[in-house]
Amino acid sequence: MNNIYLIGFMGCGKSAVGRTLARKTYRRFMDTDAIIVESEGMPISQIFEEKGEAYFRQVETTTMKSLIAEKKRIVSCGGGVALRQENVDAMRAGGTIVLLTATPETILKRVENDDKRPLLQGRKTVEGITELMNSRVPFYSEAADYTVSTDDRSTEEIAKEIMNLMSLD
Ligand code: S3P
Repeated sequence: MNNIYLIGFMGCGKSAVGRTLARKTYRRFMDTDAIIVESEGMPISQIFEEKGEAYFRQVETTTMKSLIAEKKRIVSCGGGVALRQENVDAMRAGGTIVLLTATPETILKRVENDDKRPLLQGRKTVEGITELMNSRVPFYSEAADYTVSTDDRSTEEIAKEIMNLMSLD
């Protein structure tokens, strides 16, 4: 078995579910944002501010390509990863893609007090989140091998569903 990539909108639970899934399957957890923060030596918000989104997206693609060489990892992907075909190709080459979904209402509850996500600044309303989410849904759906809803469910339940879908012990 190769890598499992968790994709989806900001606040859909990729990191929390990924950690639980990694524990339950005895695999290593990786987080693309954390890798980028480490390699760039600054938080995501500062990368956006000082170097711009285009620069961030380039580093993100380099990171996704580097992960093809990894084996049996659970990879939590930044919410924009599935928007670029190159990144989707890299995920396909590295393993299986699982889309996590949540309603805009759920997302809003989860990100309300968050100031680490530059793309949510000025957008923390159901309408603002819905608008950005709608523009991304086609890319997420197109990339996904499996789709799992996270609304009103614990990370344990979600991780178990992913394991069932993929026939993992
Ligand atoms: C982004 C999502 C963030 C982070 C960056 C851009 C996006 O990751 O990569 O702020 O474009 O949706 P999370 O989905 O982990 O919040």
